[in-house]
Formats: sequence, C-alpha cells, structure tokens
Amino acid sequence: MTADHVFRNARLVTMAGEGMGAIERGAVVVAGGRIAYAGPDSECPTGLSGIESTDCEGRVITPGLIDCHTHLVFGGNRAREFEMRLDGASYEEIARAGGGILSTVRATRAASEDDLVASALPRLDALLAEGVTTIEIKSGYGLTVADEVKTLRAARKLRTMRPVSVTTTALGAHAIPPEFAGRSADYIAHVINEQLPALAAENLADAVDAFCEGIAFSPDEVDRLFTAARSLGLPVKLHADQLSNLHGAALAAKHGALSADHLEYTDAEGAAAMAKAGTVAVLLPGAFYFLREKQLPPIAAFRAAGTRMALATDCNPGSSPLTSPLLTMNMAATLFRMTVSECLAGFTREAARALGKLGETGTLEVGKWADLAIWSVESPAELVYRMGFNPLHARIWRGKPC
Ligand code: NIG
Ligand code: FE
Repeated sequence: MTADHVFRNARLVTMAGEGMGAIERGAVVVAGGRIAYAGPDSECPTGLSGIESTDCEGRVITPGLIDCHTHLVFGGNRAREFEMRLDGASYEEIARAGGGILSTVRATRAASEDDLVASALPRLDALLAEGVTTIEIKSGYGLTVADEVKTLRAARKLRTMRPVSVTTTALGAHAIPPEFAGRSADYIAHVINEQLPALAAENLADAVDAFCEGIAFSPDEVDRLFTAARSLGLPVKLHADQLSNLHGAALAAKHGALSADHLEYTDAEGAAAMAKAGTVAVLLPGAFYFLREKQLPPIAAFRAAGTRMALATDCNPGSSPLTSPLLTMNMAATLFRMTVSECLAGFTREAARALGKLGETGTLEVGKWADLAIWSVESPAELVYRMGFNPLHARIWRGKPC
C-alpha cells in the first residue's frame, strides 16, 4: 500500500454508522490526502515502511469538526445592542427599530472586501483552533448585488488563507434593506432577478438560504425564492421557526432542503416532514442561549421521527457571537439534553450531511478526505463535558497536519 502518513495507537471515534463508531486502539492511514484505512491498530495494513508514523499515545481522533451554519463575514459588532438588551430591550424590538441585522448591514456595506476578510480571520482562527476543518459561511449583511458579491468573495478568499474547506451560502433574503422598506415582495424579486443570477455567474454560492419569520420573509416569499434557486440548480436551506411557528420546517422539506435551522417552534408535523425529505435539523444552542429563548427545539419529536440533527455555532454579531464548537456541544447537552453521541454527530457526520458533503467528510471512513482532529482526552464525552477548555492536540486537513 502506498501511503503518506499513519496515525497509530489512537482511540478512534469514527462516527461511521449511527453511533460514535468507537475503536479502542485504532489507526488511520492517509494516502493522497484521503483516508486509506481507519480501523483497529492490530489490523493496520503492513508494508507501510518509509511513511511518516505518529504515535498518538492513546489520544482520541475524531473527524475534523464541521461548522455547518455561520455568518462569519460581517462588518462591525453589536456590543452596544447587547447592552441595550441588558437594559430590557428585546431582539425583535431592536430589529424593528432599525437596529439588529440592519445595523450590521450598514457596517458591512461600509467595509471593503479586504476589511471583511481581515475581521473574519480571527473568528475563523478561533474555530480552527478547536478542530474545525470545514465551515459554511453565509452572506446576508450586504443585501445589494455588489455587497452580497463582496461578502461571498471575502468568504471564498478565506479558504486561500487557511487550510480549511469553505462552502458559501447566499442569504440575500436575510432582512429587508432600508431602500426596500415596506416592499418585501419587491426585494424578494430583486434577490431572485438580480442577486442570484449575479452570484451564480461568478459561481459564488453553493446554496441559497432565507430567514422565514415575522421580522423577515413570509413563507410565500421563501417559496418563490426557493423555486428560483432550484431552477438555477442551487440547493436550499432555511432559517425556520426560530421565534414563531410559520411552518418553515415543512416548507423547507417541501423543497427538499439540505437543512432547516434553529427550529425552536417546529411542531411534530414539521419534524416528520423533514425526516421524510432527508432535511437535516441544524440546532443552534448559541442563539438560544444568547437570546435567552424559552422554547426548546422539539428534540423528542426529531428523535421519534428519525430527523437527523446537526449542531453549529451560528457565529454572527447579533444572536450568537460564538466561535467555539466545544462550548456549542456543551450547550446542546446542557440546554437541549442532547447526548454525547448526538452532540459529536452534530458537528461531524450530520453537519456533513447538512452541507451535502457526507460523501467527502464527516466520518473516518476509507475514501473520504483525511480531515481529523486529535484530542488530548481519554474519552469523547470529555469534549462535550468541559466548558472553556480546549484539548485539541492537532488538526489535520486533507492529510496535512496544520
Ligand atoms: O441565525 N436568524 C436570523 N439570522 C441570524 C441572526 C442575525 C443577526 O442578528 O445579525 C441567526 O440567528
Ligand atoms: Fe443563522
């Protein structure tokens, strides 16, 4: 067997199949950036002489983490609004008064592409420091053709600056910009007729997202947008049922969405529709925590229906200024009562599925990219249990230690 690197004497958490796929004393062989073997150390292919070998000294190897829902690229921050909320204002009140998403829109429009890259890099580095090897980045704070293009170019630039896989999502339907105030239908037409074709022409978007909510877009408007996106061959996903139940989960499922995200107000019918369509539920405990939500996402209904559950940071300036997948897993366990296996699957296998990339990454299986995180812990539960402690030992992206 020709190979480049073998990691031996590791506790593998392969995430293959349904659970954690743990292998107590395992090895991973990397060839050409991909996994050539992942299994018991005792059955590791022989004749690997001459290649680099690492003794992992019993450390845990998981798939590299996948943050499948972020708004990583934006201008400014919203610390002032955080203070207003401490004085009693609500997220929705701030949004309706022209703050919220629109205050970040102003800052993002004022920033150059280079400014956006520079401000996103430290956030990206924080994620990489916790073992992230794939990240999704949305636009949605530009809301003009030029500013949405600028945002997604900045997002794509990040992958030339760090060893990480980046997928990009067009979220023009995030908020109604001031120049379209009171004319949401006209703005959706602008997204459909101007933004999407411009982004598609530059191949800047891997998917299309929208915010379906009373303070954003109606189910009918999302339906029109999704129909247009799919006719361009772009998969869809939806910010759904975060603050109220507009049946966004079922709408996403109707369009065969990759994922529906947030979902605090989703009902059992929505959960079942998602399971049937293969739409992944992306749960965002950072936003739930930061907005002090009371309504829990229907975890029991998702389990009962067999809806796949992923987790993500939702890193954004307004509802989840969070760049820690480890803390996100702890929040999912503590606030949502998700199990250790569900939390780890949420940042690996199910996150890959939510991006349509399960064939490439998300588990330690032969043929996939050798995207690995090596942790100085004795058991995978430690990754979920601790708060504010980062035991990452090494991050491997496409076979390269980095
Ligand atoms: O995912 N829900 C809508 N969008 C973001 C929040 C955006 C913001 O407040 O800037 C979210 O929570
Ligand atoms: Fe979001």
